[in-house]
Amino acid sequence: MGTLPEGNPWPSSDTLVSLREPDSFHAYVHIPFCEVRCGYCDFNTYTASELGDVSRLDFDSALNHEIEFASKVLNASGITTPELSSIFFGGGTPSLMTGEQIERILGQLRLKFGVALDAEVTLEANPESTSTQLLEKLVSAGVNRVSFGAQSFDPDVLSVLDRTHRPELLLPLVTKAKELGLRTSIDLIYGAPGESIDSWAATLESAISLGTEHVSAYSLIVEDGTKLASKIRRGLLPDVDEDLNALKHALADQMFEAAGLSWYEVSNWGNPSVHNQAYWSSKNWWGFGPGAHSHINGNRFWNRKHPAAYQQALQTGSPAIGHEEIDDLTHLTERIMLQLRTSHGLDRSVISSAGVSAAVVARYLAEGKLSMEGNRIQVTKQGRLLVDGIALDLVSSIKA
Ligand SMILES: C[S@@+](CC[C@H](N)C(=O)[O-])C[C@H]1O[C@@H](n2cnc3c(N)ncnc32)[C@H](O)[C@@H]1O
Ligand code: SF4
Repeated sequence: MGTLPEGNPWPSSDTLVSLREPDSFHAYVHIPFCEVRCGYCDFNTYTASELGDVSRLDFDSALNHEIEFASKVLNASGITTPELSSIFFGGGTPSLMTGEQIERILGQLRLKFGVALDAEVTLEANPESTSTQLLEKLVSAGVNRVSFGAQSFDPDVLSVLDRTHRPELLLPLVTKAKELGLRTSIDLIYGAPGESIDSWAATLESAISLGTEHVSAYSLIVEDGTKLASKIRRGLLPDVDEDLNALKHALADQMFEAAGLSWYEVSNWGNPSVHNQAYWSSKNWWGFGPGAHSHINGNRFWNRKHPAAYQQALQTGSPAIGHEEIDDLTHLTERIMLQLRTSHGLDRSVISSAGVSAAVVARYLAEGKLSMEGNRIQVTKQGRLLVDGIALDLVSSIKA
């Protein structure tokens, strides 16, 4: 999330040219607030003292303003979109918003774009800011899936990560969410400095015992400029052990699969999220909120990062700070990078249209890092953790 990419300015006409027309439409809503910043996180999020004049209590108005703006842009561009198939409230900490705020945002999305009856509507929730009452209100607002940021069930690991919740909070929250009919997911992180393989195994056991239908497990990334990076650099904490992390990923895969949560993307197991799949297959989505990225008919654009700058820009027009049109080759290379990470893999037609070197593909097939089944090329278990490097090699071979 660090810095924003460079690009052209947002079109002064407030219209977009259609380059490609995907068959579904999705919304991401970024809630840029956190009570405290975790030492490892460089997402676009702000604590109260960093917000200036911005109040989170009426931030739904700014988001609703952007939703109205988006609907005008799409109309003026002659782009018709089907009803939304998925909505994702991500952060930051969406559970810091009130249920009423979420209800107003969903109401505005319904009014301006329509929301399909079977749409997946997810909200990311931090355990320490989620109550039974909030879950009830979210259900009545139209949320049907909650993703809890559990990260670890080991208090020492949570402390190294600067997380403020107690692991015991998860069971009652997930139980209540399931009683209310919500689909549930949890996020875990492996590789925190000092986390032993036994600690990770115990975290996996606790996570599985919650019985969520979906789990994400991310390898900890030490982002430049974070408190964690500084502590590691100064020798106050040990660096992430990549070999141990490979074992942790393999253990997660083995335990999730045994529990009936099937692997479907490098960091994801269980019942696939419609929203994530939309990103991976380059569907249309509008990202609302500070720093959010959008992809509409081959146009990519991204918003100003600070909530104050975002709110101010909306007074006179677009909150976007950059825009680019994605040409066919870039589109194909992005598909290679994203789809190779999934269990579905890549259609061979994508590889051949992009002009990927057959010799490079053959080498990875021979090394057992890729496999071929019918018309699809997939990453093997052995290649899974190397997938970004493999995809990069395939993409680099296009120009070779
Ligand atoms: C940005 S958070 C937003 C949701 C919520 N605030 C939370 O922390 O769960 C989404 C996910 O990204 C993960 N994340 C953030 N920074 C990360 C990093 N440096 N390495 C790996 N995962 C990271 C979080 O732990 C969390 O599971
Ligand atoms: S709570 Fe989530 S978004 Fe906020 S700082 Fe921590 S990891 Fe980042």
